[in-house]
Amino acid sequence: MYDTSHIRNFCIIAHIDHGKSTLADRLLELTGTVPARKMHSQFLDQMDIERERGITIKMQPVRMIYFVNHAPIFNSQFSISNENLLKIKNLKIENSNSEYILNLIDTPGHIDFTYEVSRALLAVEGAILLVDATQGVQAQTITNLELAKRFHLAVVPVMNKIDLPDARIEETKAEIVALLSCDPDDILLVSAKTGEGVGQVLRAIIDRIPPPSFGKTSDVLGTSDVEEKRVAGAFQALIFDSKYSTHKGVLAYVRVFSGSFLPHRGATLHLVHKNITIEPVEVGVFLPELRATEGLHDGEIGYIATNIKDPEIVRVGDTIGAISIGTYQEPKAMVWASIFPSVSDEFKKLKDAIVKLKLNDPALSYETEGSALFGRSMRAGFLGMLHLEITIERLRREFGVSVVVAHPTVEYQVVDEQGAQRAVRDPVSFENIQQPQRVCEPWFLVSIVSRVSDLGAIMELLKLREGEVVETQTLPGERIVLSALMPLRKLITHFFDDLKSVTQGYGSLSYEFGEMRIVDLTVLSVFIGEKAIPQFARLLPKGELEREARKTVERLYEILPRQLFALKIQAGIGSRILASRTLPALSKHVTAKLYGGDRSRKMKLWKKQKEGKKRLEAHGDVDIPHEVYLKMIKN
Ligand code: GTP
Repeated sequence: MYDTSHIRNFCIIAHIDHGKSTLADRLLELTGTVPARKMHSQFLDQMDIERERGITIKMQPVRMIYFVNHAPIFNSQFSISNENLLKIKNLKIENSNSEYILNLIDTPGHIDFTYEVSRALLAVEGAILLVDATQGVQAQTITNLELAKRFHLAVVPVMNKIDLPDARIEETKAEIVALLSCDPDDILLVSAKTGEGVGQVLRAIIDRIPPPSFGKTSDVLGTSDVEEKRVAGAFQALIFDSKYSTHKGVLAYVRVFSGSFLPHRGATLHLVHKNITIEPVEVGVFLPELRATEGLHDGEIGYIATNIKDPEIVRVGDTIGAISIGTYQEPKAMVWASIFPSVSDEFKKLKDAIVKLKLNDPALSYETEGSALFGRSMRAGFLGMLHLEITIERLRREFGVSVVVAHPTVEYQVVDEQGAQRAVRDPVSFENIQQPQRVCEPWFLVSIVSRVSDLGAIMELLKLREGEVVETQTLPGERIVLSALMPLRKLITHFFDDLKSVTQGYGSLSYEFGEMRIVDLTVLSVFIGEKAIPQFARLLPKGELEREARKTVERLYEILPRQLFALKIQAGIGSRILASRTLPALSKHVTAKLYGGDRSRKMKLWKKQKEGKKRLEAHGDVDIPHEVYLKMIKN
């Protein structure tokens, strides 16, 4: 039996920007996991987009070795012990009294990536709950704590940024005590930036977070009889994330819940849900880069290179082993949009890219849709607008596919003429239902934390967004939690940006599904040069049609590049035009480069230009650049 008592698996959870990645950097330094010369800030944010935007998008596991009695580690906080480095390289677990394996999974803070957090939480026994001392408890602090409680994690409260002059240490302490019902002395005070107090965090991880256990998964995954599920000594691991490797096939990121696996020629494992046998080519751990090891054991977090080349076979939530441990509940997409390849014959490339991206982003939903009119497209579902934006960016950067995105929409429930209920996520499907009997849309319950003095401005904003206040509660330190119901379509259109701006950055937000409500829905069509442009069509309640028609036309007028001929931009329902503007023609000085009096050359060029214009007009070919589509969804 493998001794798991010297393993600790944990996450850092917090509201966005409260300092998770910075604290993770300090832990990596203190344990000597990353040598000083290689260290840079946000070390675990491995994607370029994460560094550029300063946000974490993907969870990232990392394994650290920590010596409890190794005094120099505490004393010289930023130097690396050679002995420590050596241990990490060898990855030998000697189980001496002083040595611990700490598996950290760094998680994102933004609500669009909550599914990353919940998957990570299932793989660990404890969570460091980090709270920024200048901001106090925020909406995502509460949501993430609730998640951690649902997963029965041991919670270690840590207050960060105590070095800042405007740190509100006592108030923040009171807020954390109120939230956790803990002793004020349980809260660790640190500065992840300077390293102050971070040594105590390591100590608390050992003392307050239990070693790996099997039972914790049972209630979360809804499985009973855990002991029965634990097939004595047999290898059982839960896939919590995955990634595609051209050489080693799908890499399954796993938490081992029992047994050991030592890969050798002919050694096989079983994928429970797919019911297939796999022959892994390698196993290993995260340093945070992949490092092959001789085996994976009970309680550990690591990867299994499955050698499976079909990305649709290995799924997050599946068990590798004898019997299923249970599975994750897949998140429900909030926003849907059709995605077209910019180059029409690249549909296959787009589809392959999305299937592979889903491996690394299981929150992404997709289905193929076909239309002879505008070429084939993928209909993809996202957890929010930031998720959509990041996905498009990842498709471009990681897979070299440039795409055009149709206007995003929420999912409507439509009862059609035969009384059958259907989910509708795009204007074309809606128009195909002749006489809908009833249409319902999702309303969400939002929870906003801000200063008491922001209450008026928040109410005003909610009113504009059709919000209905459900209740308000006060928090210590002149702060409030306000809950309200609002249509999801109003939430996805930059509600959070507006909330930030009316509360000078103090307002924070979390949300969950509330209820379905009846809506009077219709399709706003957009025409450019008298041709309908399906990518700009939108599903809207009737009451918003006129305003949105005008807004859309104005926006397109601003961002569409001028053509060689005058261009009509119109919006309306069916053939009824509600707003219209004409973009003047671009007059190109085709003869500008010709000096002097060569009149016949000039005449020839002018004639050519005139013919070109005529051809374009007749053809109706309008060049709508890729950026225009993106600007329209950001609008
Ligand atoms: P997400 O992953 O996007 O949710 O952010 P995060 O929680 O990982 O926050 P991150 O570590 O990126 O820190 C956010 C900002 O706060 C950065 O500018 C950090 O430099 C700063 N910061 C983090 N910890 C401290 C601290 O202890 N003191 C000070 N002064 N600044 C800090």
